Amino acid sequence: MTELDEEAAALQRRFGRPGAVDFAVSPLGGVVIHLTAGGATATVALQGAQVLSWIPQAGAPDALWCSPLSKLGTGKPVRGGIPICWPWFGLHPFVPASQPAHGLVRAAPWSVESTGTGETGSWAVFNMSLTPQQQAFAGMLTAALRVTLAEKLTLELVSHNAGSAPVAISEALHTYFAIGDIGRVRVEGLEGRTYLDQLTKMEAEQRGPITFDRETDRIYWDTGGALPAIKDDGLARSIALSASGSKSTVVWNPWSEKAARLGDIPEEGYRQMLCVETANVGPRNAVTVSAGKSHTLSCSLTATKI
Ligand code: BG6
Repeated sequence: MTELDEEAAALQRRFGRPGAVDFAVSPLGGVVIHLTAGGATATVALQGAQVLSWIPQAGAPDALWCSPLSKLGTGKPVRGGIPICWPWFGLHPFVPASQPAHGLVRAAPWSVESTGTGETGSWAVFNMSLTPQQQAFAGMLTAALRVTLAEKLTLELVSHNAGSAPVAISEALHTYFAIGDIGRVRVEGLEGRTYLDQLTKMEAEQRGPITFDRETDRIYWDTGGALPAIKDDGLARSIALSASGSKSTVVWNPWSEKAARLGDIPEEGYRQMLCVETANVGPRNAVTVSAGKSHTLSCSLTATKI
């Protein structure tokens, strides 16, 4: 028995609910939880509390894309599923050169706090605290992520400020959706919203649905209340996102050149993935968490055939 087998077995004894919440060693090389509810399944890695797979109905294809080139336990985040960007999105606002992009918790180990199963689905709660060294510049923050699998997949990310001064955070549930082909998808629901094009640094207003024929990297501001949907003609599937505690939506596809530079997306792999991220991006949509208070960012995903 390897150390990972032992860890999975110990977690299964403590938190497992056979057939609904099951711990296992992933072929990617780390411990994961398999959630099952009705015909749906989801897999969540303890590394990064990262959802790696979501099969919304028995026999359906995975609704999340995950790079076959990624592994757990390498110190790098897995490229795919739903990485948690926290407590900042993109570059650190003050010390970008010395800190990793997208925060501190994507490749960090999270702890399992609790699990359950019942009429509302199967769920697991993970938590993590910043180290004292990280707290020195990022604030006395802790994070908890609840993943609930039912007819929908729901993620709730709670940021708690245990310190005595307010802390500004930015964050994202950086979802990589699996799609038939990038040339045959459109994102609806963001019409009329203002976005920052991260490639040109210009702002513009979204006209009509978003379609893709090149690298796309946009932060849509003030999207609270928007209901983005990914209409995928290739897979005859629509995925609807509903969010709360979210003011921004990020839409990203690296296209061929950037995908090659990133090094963990297979050739042509960019055609099968699209990120639509439920977020709060600074400076405009950063969230200030008062001392002793919490903020919750959540998103629910629903997949239907079209
Ligand atoms: C997106 C950003 O959210 O994440 C992009 O808008 C970035 O600019 C992408 O390239 C991937 O980031 P990373 O750190 O996972 O390579």
